[in-house]
Amino acid sequence: MVIYAGKDYQDVSRKAANIMSAQIIMKPDAVLGLATGSTPVGMYAQLAEWYRKGDLDFSKVTTVNLDEYKGLSGDNDQSYRYFMNRNLFDHVNIDKARTFVPDGLEEDSEKACAQYNEVIRETGGVDMQLLGIGGNGHIGFNEPGSAFEKETHCVDLTESTIRANARFFDSMDEVPKQAYTMGIKNIMAAKKILLIATGAGKAEALYNSLYGPITPNVPASILQLHPDLTVVADEEALGII
Ligand code: GLP
Repeated sequence: MVIYAGKDYQDVSRKAANIMSAQIIMKPDAVLGLATGSTPVGMYAQLAEWYRKGDLDFSKVTTVNLDEYKGLSGDNDQSYRYFMNRNLFDHVNIDKARTFVPDGLEEDSEKACAQYNEVIRETGGVDMQLLGIGGNGHIGFNEPGSAFEKETHCVDLTESTIRANARFFDSMDEVPKQAYTMGIKNIMAAKKILLIATGAGKAEALYNSLYGPITPNVPASILQLHPDLTVVADEEALGII
């Protein structure tokens, strides 16, 4: 595991974007596993800026996103498909047909998850998986208690995640209660993992994940067993490390 400390959110975003762009430069047809949430927004903006300056080419890149709310269409401004379009895909020369997000509108959970596992397999495997971390140590939407051996599955979101995500919706009632998420097994299969965390609210989860016991109660703790994990975090998130 390598940990890079950033001064603040902007510094973390730039460092993480550097790592991701090195992956794209070394392998132009890289498969990137992408994440949503507020943490990667700055990193995506930095990548888009470097694209505008002519320093990055996404034309051969494939992406697979970690998760999507069940019940939201890609046009819904709270869906993760919409988020990805707005924060990255609309600003770079990526072929949208090669950007994958679980199908939130597929009501049959088994079908949606099996299809997504197939999509991931067909990419040939993720070269670099980006992860944020939930305040309770969740990754993707793998909440505490998730079995490490699961692939894509449908989850009931925990009360704390629904509350944390409510800030993006008009009211708590509008926050979907379920999501499709890559499982820990999919995440661990990535060749490289890039975990980013900022703010004091992530300090405890980050410490428990990187240095605590490996337990499904802290889903990100399994990352200790990944052979190529890079963490970029700011001073606040690294506070107790
Ligand atoms: C959501 C996403 C996760 C993300 C987490 C943290 O639950 N499914 O992928 O890591 O939120 O979000 P934020 O970066 O906004 O703190």
